[in-house]
Amino acid sequence: MTTQQSGAVGHEALRAALDRVPRVRFAMLPTPLVAAPRLSASLHGPDIWFKREDLAGWGMGGSKYRILEYTLGQAMADGADVVVAGGLTRSNHPQQVVSAACHLGIPAVVLLGGGAGHVDWTGNLLLQGISGAEVHILPSADLEEVRRAQEAMADRLRERGRRPAIVTLTRSVHICSVFAYANYMAELMTQMDAAGIKPKAVYIGSGGPTYAGLVLGAAALGAKFEVIGVTPRGTAAECSDHVAGLLQQTIRILGLDISVDPRSIQIVDAHVGGGYGVLTPEAVAAIRLTASTEGVFLDPVYTGKAMAGLIAGCRRGDLTTNDTVVFAHTGGTPNLFAYAAELMSEPPPSG
Ligand SMILES: Cc1ncc(COP(=O)(O)O)c(C=O)c1O
Repeated sequence: MTTQQSGAVGHEALRAALDRVPRVRFAMLPTPLVAAPRLSASLHGPDIWFKREDLAGWGMGGSKYRILEYTLGQAMADGADVVVAGGLTRSNHPQQVVSAACHLGIPAVVLLGGGAGHVDWTGNLLLQGISGAEVHILPSADLEEVRRAQEAMADRLRERGRRPAIVTLTRSVHICSVFAYANYMAELMTQMDAAGIKPKAVYIGSGGPTYAGLVLGAAALGAKFEVIGVTPRGTAAECSDHVAGLLQQTIRILGLDISVDPRSIQIVDAHVGGGYGVLTPEAVAAIRLTASTEGVFLDPVYTGKAMAGLIAGCRRGDLTTNDTVVFAHTGGTPNLFAYAAELMSEPPPSG
């Protein structure tokens, strides 16, 4: 099905609406849109293009810098003098908060769940350690506990006369994700026009907020392609409900006169495998194929599974040599090092 949106408002109106939201500009944008011809050939598949959000800088890149332009923009507009972030020890978001905060000269306090037992200073956690962030490791991997720890930390900081802003794991962060990725879609469609690309689909690994931004942007700009979200967690129905709720709220906040056809929300849950953060054999194969054909590293949690979804689409015949597809590389690559054993459980082919 093609995403035929009614009531598109166009680039200027979308930009004007997004420009009313506080934002601090520091990400390396626009991120490159580049062809992946050797990957396409190896799949006997469509023309594949990568949108390289993994090069959005700082740190080691990733999708959160674009979001942080809005979350930190709001924090700075509110007069914050310290940011509080949370997640799990392997999470991408807190690491990118730390690098952004270092770059902007704002102190960051990080609370990371899932540290029961041995804490491995690798991947994202290593980068936070190197950056000198104040990292607190919590034993539980329950994100509700991490949320409560964020609130408690913010309270303690306020008691000490500081002005903290919580910049992860809140509803307003999800809203900012939609703004950021509507902005991404405007950037991508401008790049696609310049490159003369008319894709059949854009693929992204997301369980909700980032995907919702792409759908909002596509609706506002009258995109003629599908936006496919490959979720790393939950069911398609749960994710679609989350996306629909976010779209309703953000369209209202932005005051955009658009409606999104619910059929344009296309989330695939076939690649979750054993759950969030658990690698599948198909994702391992996708990561290794992309590295060996293009010199591009995907990640174990989001983009590896999303590429497994794109490859499955090629195998089913949904994507053929007549098609063009854009793959949103959203980063997460520091996590590769935390998954070394799973990624190399099969030896590489010897020469
Ligand atoms: C590498 C990567 N890709 C994609 C996403 C998008 O996630 P979602 O839209 O489900 O929040 C994230 C978020 O953590 C991420 O780290």
